[in-house]
Amino acid sequence: MTAIDWLSLLHPVLVMLFVYPVVGATVRLGILVREQRLGITRQPAKVMAEHSDHGRWMTGGVVVAVLIALLYSFLSKFSADPAAFAGGVPRLALLGLVAAGALVSLVALWRVRRPLWRGTFALLCWAALLGLGSQGEIWRLSDNPLSASFWASHYWAGILLTGLLLGTTAARPEIQRTLRLRRLHVSAAVLTALLLAVMAITGSRDLLEIPLSWQKPAVFRCDFKARRCPLPEDAQGSLVAPGSSGLLPGAGADAAGA
Ligand code: HEM
Ligand code: HEM
Repeated sequence: MTAIDWLSLLHPVLVMLFVYPVVGATVRLGILVREQRLGITRQPAKVMAEHSDHGRWMTGGVVVAVLIALLYSFLSKFSADPAAFAGGVPRLALLGLVAAGALVSLVALWRVRRPLWRGTFALLCWAALLGLGSQGEIWRLSDNPLSASFWASHYWAGILLTGLLLGTTAARPEIQRTLRLRRLHVSAAVLTALLLAVMAITGSRDLLEIPLSWQKPAVFRCDFKARRCPLPEDAQGSLVAPGSSGLLPGAGADAAGA
């Protein structure tokens, strides 16, 4: 593996090592908060604060992991062929600046107290991620919500998940105070947990499908619709079916990226 291939592992490794363990703790603490509110068990007062603090860390971890994935996509395209990267170094620097803006908004969201500021910084952070994700270098399977592949897209599920988490973090004090918002939070949390499962499944699928950097020239010569790859040069580029004696294995239909 080359340096850029190792860099591609940073996003999944960060998610598996940091985000998912914090998710487990957040869900467990959320259940304890619920039990305390319903009087099923008695919990130390700390449990409520611990749940929302873990939720805040979970949101931060997800935003950082998304930024790493997006920046990796730009850097890998740039390093493969700097001349073909639209806008060159100035555009790459601008994209880096937008990513820094997303991080600053996240930190500001943690610090500000007024509802208007909390809402503004959550929206700013999400808008920066959407702006970066809408660039041509980011693989999104489909941008059409009416097509099935949109709902199988790792990118769009990730954006929805990040929006839900940022919204929940912004509404933290109101969730603590208002019964109606707590009910809404529980429904949103079920969707969040579902999306986290979708991310684990689609992320593992993408890891299987994306070739290493030195394999790309060969793999991208495959016909992804027909799931066939050309034989090596000496066989004059004829196509073989996956599983047959050809040297290049068949690739999945969506193998071009995440
Ligand atoms: C998958 C993730 C999550 C699950 C399953 C979850 C679950 C829950 C549950 C079951 C409750 C109790 C509601 C009630 O008593 O009616 C709760 C309360 C709460 N949650 Fe979450 N939650 C999650 C993520 C988050 C996040 C990301 C935050 C924000 C940073 C957050 C902040 C809160 C707050 C502030 C409360 C109210 C605590 C209190 O009663 O003082 N949660 N959550
Ligand atoms: C909280 C969960 C996760 C979120 C929010 C998330 C979000 C994202 C986003 C927004 C992208 C950018 C799409 C692109 O660059 O083309 C991406 C890429 C990717 N994700 Fe995830 N992801 C999560 C979990 C995972 C997991 C668990 C894995 C693997 C086991 C994974 C593997 C990948 C891969 C291979 C890519 C493409 C390469 C890269 O950009 O690093 N993701 N993810």
